Amino acid sequence: MDNRAIGVFDSGIGGLTVVNALTTVLPNEKFIYVGDTARVPYGNKSIDSIRQYSLEITKWLLKKNCKMIVVACNTVSSLVLDYLTSSISIPIIGVIDPGVEQAISISKNNKIAVLGTHATIRSNAYGKRLKKVNPEIEVISQACPLFVPLVEEGWVEGKIPRQIAKHYFNNLVKLDVDTIILGCTHYPLLKSTIHTVLKNKAMLVDSGEATAKTVLLTLKKLNALSNLTDYEIDCYVTDDPDLFNEVALQFVLKKINKTSHIDL
Ligand code: DGL
Repeated sequence: MDNRAIGVFDSGIGGLTVVNALTTVLPNEKFIYVGDTARVPYGNKSIDSIRQYSLEITKWLLKKNCKMIVVACNTVSSLVLDYLTSSISIPIIGVIDPGVEQAISISKNNKIAVLGTHATIRSNAYGKRLKKVNPEIEVISQACPLFVPLVEEGWVEGKIPRQIAKHYFNNLVKLDVDTIILGCTHYPLLKSTIHTVLKNKAMLVDSGEATAKTVLLTLKKLNALSNLTDYEIDCYVTDDPDLFNEVALQFVLKKINKTSHIDL
């Protein structure tokens, strides 16, 4: 038993989709979430900036005595997870490998699409991992940069999101992909629009849900699960906490114990 918190971080609010998935499979844990809302988005920043920001957050979470860190951000997981892993001694889990494993297990025709930010797609982190497990897999990568501001605005359904999705998915439809990895924290909130545009023809892999299962298995293996009566979520953000809380509770989470501002 280990009642210390699990640290989770993201560039902003989107990583709460991963926290949501985590609370479903780990209902007795405490979560400390850091959203770098003052510096979001990371998806169009340089690797040097992403490394520096992520290290600052990781060090902050270590000071909070977390037992494990979950990197909810796909951009950070794609570009600097190895660097972070080599900098700390507690377990650190990113979202790429769990998403890859799930996609491979469900694809029937080995045509898998990866959606993500420019930085995630440019890094080809998902593509490399998919090909490593099965070189036969055809990987189709698509950056969907406009999805992030749409979700930040809470504009997840209707004509405009559908038109943008149609534009991005033109190729995927033609190439007959049967599995799509939602390789960005924000995209699970657009699931319904994505299903509508693709006419339910492809299965969607939510990297957050896949990651939550990996976290559960890892904690079990380490004998480090908590036994709280209910889950707890403390959020820390680098910009306005009230704004964050409002959007978080409207779109992603049912409860947050507290939200505070931090300077990193
Ligand atoms: N959290 C980022 C990701 O999952 C999306 C938002 C951003 O660009 O920072 O890639």
